[in-house]
Amino acid sequence: MEKQEVIILAIESSCDETAAAVVKNGRDVLSNVISSQIDLHTLYGGVVPEIASRKHIEKINQVIQEALDQANVTLDDITAIAVTYGPGLVGALLVGVAEAKAISFARNIPLIGVHHIEGHISANYIENKELEPPFLCLVVSGGHTHLVNVQDYGNYEILGRTRDDAAGEAFDKVARAIGLGYPGGPKIEKAAREGNPQAMDFPRAKISDNVYDFSFSGVKSAVLNYINGCKMKNIPIVQADIAASFQKAVTDVLIDHAIHAAKELGVKKLAIAGGVASNGALREGMREACKKRGISFYHPSPVLCTDNAAMIGAAAYYEYLAGTRHGWDLNAIPNLKLGER
Ligand code: KG4
Ligand code: ZN
Repeated sequence: MEKQEVIILAIESSCDETAAAVVKNGRDVLSNVISSQIDLHTLYGGVVPEIASRKHIEKINQVIQEALDQANVTLDDITAIAVTYGPGLVGALLVGVAEAKAISFARNIPLIGVHHIEGHISANYIENKELEPPFLCLVVSGGHTHLVNVQDYGNYEILGRTRDDAAGEAFDKVARAIGLGYPGGPKIEKAAREGNPQAMDFPRAKISDNVYDFSFSGVKSAVLNYINGCKMKNIPIVQADIAASFQKAVTDVLIDHAIHAAKELGVKKLAIAGGVASNGALREGMREACKKRGISFYHPSPVLCTDNAAMIGAAAYYEYLAGTRHGWDLNAIPNLKLGER
């Protein structure tokens, strides 16, 4: 390997995926290994934190070795070790953080802690080589719904956030209510393809004191009330129509807020990130809305939308260039704020 290349080994274990990746110079993914625990958590209808932590411990060494092997590198080639240290489930985060610190200490390789949301945003750099800040990014995952003004690498202004449920959380809860099970997002999307998005008029919440904030508990309650009403009247529910109408209500609001912000700020680049960004209806709706207004639209491939370590490696590269280094006292911070060090 040439000396000037920055090769980062990245680790992600904040929720239910144990992931490791090797990323060269921020945008070139040499390997991206993800061990998903979804099948295990499906048995319980959602992520069980204690089980997630135990599984991370069982898998992490193997996943890291696979990432190094697939990239055809050894620890001798690694410039820095990056790890997600928040936000997320504390026990799950701790496994990745302890592992990264151990490798960093044993091999004397610099350590870089990465914010999980900064990782999701940076997933956009991997396949869109020309994308550079400033741009707007809508981060929609199971735990977060943030509309972020990416002013520069590592420099974020949060314009809006959810006041209650995250967008992905709403998908998961509605999927459970209509009997589709976990994980809800992909199942709602599939069911919605057979349904009528105009069948029910579920509410699109507006927040009066910040037009960029979101609220998804109302639409979730409206779906639950609708289902209860059907049960009481003995009317069978049409899963596909509920899924399509719910998906439309959520994506309408996401697109509306993002486009509004782009117009107000005069930003000509809009990206989406996080698990919900793999939703086809959201991508198509956003693409169309951007096209109408001459805004360039960016999104990662589905495998880079949901949790992975390549995105952590991409974010860590720019942190590395900015001089960010963490000590061996790095700790997991379950409620880490974006922009905090
Ligand atoms: O980013 P992610 O893997 O984990 C978090 O950081 O939360 O996002 C997972 C979330 C889940 O709520 C899942 O239901 C949702 O992303 N999701 C989707 C789709 N694929 C995953 N939501 C809507 N449509 C999808 N196709
Ligand atoms: Zn995530």
